[in-house]
Amino acid sequence: MKKSIGRDKIKTAIFISGSGSNLKNLIKFSYKRNSPVSIKLVISNKRNAKGLKYANQKKIEKKIINFVRPKESEKKILSLLTKRKIKFICLAGFMKILSSNFIKKFNGKIANIHPSLLPKYKGLHTHKKVLENNEKFSGCTVHYVTAKLDSGKIILQKKVKISKTDTENTLKRKIIKQEHKLYTNAIKKIFN
Ligand code: GRF
Repeated sequence: MKKSIGRDKIKTAIFISGSGSNLKNLIKFSYKRNSPVSIKLVISNKRNAKGLKYANQKKIEKKIINFVRPKESEKKILSLLTKRKIKFICLAGFMKILSSNFIKKFNGKIANIHPSLLPKYKGLHTHKKVLENNEKFSGCTVHYVTAKLDSGKIILQKKVKISKTDTENTLKRKIIKQEHKLYTNAIKKIFN
């Protein structure tokens, strides 16, 4: 992928649906000198996504696109991405599945973070499934997005030890801390 040179940071969009802790972390990172990306746009499919508040505070352009008619929604997003010259997309807790047509247009330029050690535990309710299976370790993965859910090439992965007392909530908290470090490291790995 194109290297980021000097101040010429890669114009990036973040897609969210919820609390947006990864979004917040990515935005904070983007202000650092060593960040190859600059966050220019936030897309949310939910009007009340908590993460939008932070984008607001930082005066980053945001758009709510509800995905009631997915084809139309994707068309709107693609047009916006082109207008804003967005070259990279970070999915961060975005709960909609993008079509293969959309992904083709941004082939190799969409990353996602998933709260498991992929290829294990694709899809939803990862922490619950991991605990039910008495796994000793879980973790998180940043990967490229392809048309097959949670299956694109892995960029970086971090293992997290599960303790006997872990619940879905404690595991989620442990893993999300690691997600924040992993996503920024993965971005550095992609562009530097
Ligand atoms: C994270 O656990 C991420 O791995 C998954 O959705 C969650 C989003 O959390 N894809 P947040 O909205 O970034 O706090």
